[in-house]
Amino acid sequence: MNPSLESERILIFDFGSQYAQLIARRVREQNVFCQIVRHDLPAKRVAELAPKGIIFSGGPSSVYEPNAPQCDPAIFELGIPVLGICYGMQLACQTLGGKVGRNHAREYGRADCRVLESTGLFENVDASTVVWMSHGDQVQAIEGDFLPLAETDTCPIAAVRHRTRPVYGLQFHPEVSHTPQGSIVLRNFLRNVCGCQGLWKMQTFIERSIEDLKTRVGTSRVICGLSGGVDSAVTAALLLRAIGHQVACIFVDNGLLREGESDLVRKTFRDWFRADLHVVDAKDRFLSALKGVTDPQQKRKIIGKVFIDVFKAEAQHIPDARFLAQGTLYPDVIESGGAADGPAATIKTHHNVGGLPKELGFELVEPLRDLFKDEVRRLGTELGLPESLVWRHPFPGPGLAVRCLGEITPEKLATLRHADVIFLDELERSGWYRRTAQAFAVLLPVQSVGVMGDGRTYEDTIALRAVQTDDFMTADWSRLPEDLLARASTRIINNVKGVNRVVYDISSKPPATIEWE
Ligand code: XMP
Repeated sequence: MNPSLESERILIFDFGSQYAQLIARRVREQNVFCQIVRHDLPAKRVAELAPKGIIFSGGPSSVYEPNAPQCDPAIFELGIPVLGICYGMQLACQTLGGKVGRNHAREYGRADCRVLESTGLFENVDASTVVWMSHGDQVQAIEGDFLPLAETDTCPIAAVRHRTRPVYGLQFHPEVSHTPQGSIVLRNFLRNVCGCQGLWKMQTFIERSIEDLKTRVGTSRVICGLSGGVDSAVTAALLLRAIGHQVACIFVDNGLLREGESDLVRKTFRDWFRADLHVVDAKDRFLSALKGVTDPQQKRKIIGKVFIDVFKAEAQHIPDARFLAQGTLYPDVIESGGAADGPAATIKTHHNVGGLPKELGFELVEPLRDLFKDEVRRLGTELGLPESLVWRHPFPGPGLAVRCLGEITPEKLATLRHADVIFLDELERSGWYRRTAQAFAVLLPVQSVGVMGDGRTYEDTIALRAVQTDDFMTADWSRLPEDLLARASTRIINNVKGVNRVVYDISSKPPATIEWE
């Protein structure tokens, strides 16, 4: 293993913050490798992992609550730098003898922060800077060993450092974009306090992964399912770079894909990467299994089952296959702090290529499990994948089946595909494709009256959906410009046969979901 990557490891202790992942991303943006671990990771295990620094996240608790999450206090004896954020600061200060009190009102929102010590943690930060607060408790007195580094009008101790130990605390959140100079503060912690140089680079990651994959796989073959999405494409590209002809890619064309998707996969992997690509044309099999089915959950079940059958049958044609590659990403991996299994044990694995059951009998290879989505995109670009694949919006396993409401027929799918590609084209042309997290058309089995030329029409409706979201658990509808919507609507009605009305979905999630079924 290349020692240079993990030798700059930072551990992020998760005290239940909604921002733990965001802190991790900000650290990675400084080219420093980091992992999120449970808040109670024992000091002994921390010492084994030998991180350059530790960040305590915020959290919803108060340090005075009986069951408030604690850390192993022996961590402070290791001499490893610690940065506590919000709850993390309160816990660090309380453990080391500071006094934490409750505010009368929760402080939430922006505050003007005055820097009192402009070296170390606050080097290159303006003397007066805007920060984002979200807390109930705050450190009220710093008798003894803590020194204040910054203050706001309502929070006299907005940042601290310990006099003799490398322990720092921030009452505000440096990781959120509402703290404009937060990344400088984090960078200062990583560089000035922890001594990191920023060795986590994509090229180093690629070299390290290739070495690891070669060692793990030996001379066996690896099956990699392609879905048309970015995660499986990047997984395949990395495997192809590492072990070339030992990879067999399986792409199941279920007849429920977007316009041009199957061609893009073929062109990229067969023509460009010269991969051993097995395209299984299972369109008829899926469509006949879905005939007459209108219930969304039923559709999903059928598609999942047929997918497994088709994939399994194809996998049996690949001799010496011992491994199955999956595009599991870091956010899908929950860290566990048990000493026996270390901080990186998977307790939840996400299957992006439709849920493939364990009984298939393969060993799993997950080369992206340390990466965030934006890192996967960068990796894809470095590996030579086309932009259109790298920046593709996510697409559900059941595909257009959950966007073609009611019964699915080849005609309806053709109508939906046509409308969808027009909408996506308008988004691309206007630069809005990358500004939305997911966008698509939905075909509603609802006819309404229209006029075209001299005639009356009675045709289907297309709904357009575009959302902004970071995690897909909640989402807001995208405020697309009116003229973009107008162009999409006109083009769809003029060109897509059987559609005379276009509507735009302005529901957020919750209570609506992103998909319509
Ligand atoms: P919802 O509709 O639940 O979607 O708000 C959240 C995200 O999940 C995707 N999605 C699916 N992905 N199989 C998948 O692989 C599914 O059955 C499925 N249903 C929804 C959806 O596209 C969105 O990104």
